[in-house]
Amino acid sequence: MPYILRKLNNSDIPSVSEIEREAFPSLWPNSAFKSEINNPKIKLLVAAQPSSEDSAEEEASSVSEGPIPQRIIQNFRTFLGRPSTDPSMEDYPVGYVSTWLVFEEAHITAIAVRKAYRGRGVGELLLGGAIEFAMHQKSRVVTLEVRVSNDSAIALYKKYGFKKVGLRKAYYSDNREDADIMTTDPIMSLAYQRRFMELRHAYLKRHGPLGLPRSFARV
Ligand SMILES: CC(C)(COP(=O)(O)OP(=O)(O)OC[C@H]1O[C@@H](n2cnc3c(N)ncnc32)[C@H](O)[C@@H]1OP(=O)(O)O)[C@@H](O)C(=O)NCCC(=O)NCCS
Repeated sequence: MPYILRKLNNSDIPSVSEIEREAFPSLWPNSAFKSEINNPKIKLLVAAQPSSEDSAEEEASSVSEGPIPQRIIQNFRTFLGRPSTDPSMEDYPVGYVSTWLVFEEAHITAIAVRKAYRGRGVGELLLGGAIEFAMHQKSRVVTLEVRVSNDSAIALYKKYGFKKVGLRKAYYSDNREDADIMTTDPIMSLAYQRRFMELRHAYLKRHGPLGLPRSFARV
């Protein structure tokens, strides 16, 4: 079953706090999702499992096939431009990503998937959504920090063109582990957008259409 990518709502806060605690048990204090939701410089996205097998055919058919820059923006709208809530739908948040706009950069401050849902494309869906958000905001690059031992996250970031550009020594307070600083090439460059579209299409082919409920598509 495909997963929905949508904006985080107030009602998601208990779920994403749970996901955060599971993924980052040593993090303190916990994220202030409630105050971050309304900050225009922060984008919080949730990947959720739909409550029913509501088909996403409309979403699949709405993936734009036009010239690359228009496609990116059009596809961004189809992924994220829907209202954040639909009271008739219930779903189950399985992951989230937080992206902060800092000057010309988009900084991914957290990305996490429930343990039981890892390895199913949810992390990739979230990362793709964060990058599309950054493209929509015309950020120059996307950047983040990652524990040097976090092989699965590093593999995900490399897949999306992040490269190691620096090191923060003893960055994590729990065990004084170093952080790799990883950054993309300029995301508005034709080369990056072309690669991103290839990844997006490969994702859709492998994992199926993005599971936006029909009712989202009609709004
Ligand atoms: C990192 C994380 C978000 C990945 O989410 P996920 O849903 O399991 O990842 P996906 O299934 O979407 O996998 C996408 C890509 O990630 C990489 N990846 C994911 N799991 C991997 C693993 N166990 N080993 C190696 N690479 C892995 C691969 O490149 C994979 O692409 P592929 O399937 O084409 O090989 C998830 O493991 C997680 O929540 N970890 C705990 C929190 C965390 O460490 N966050 C990062 C902080 S910087």
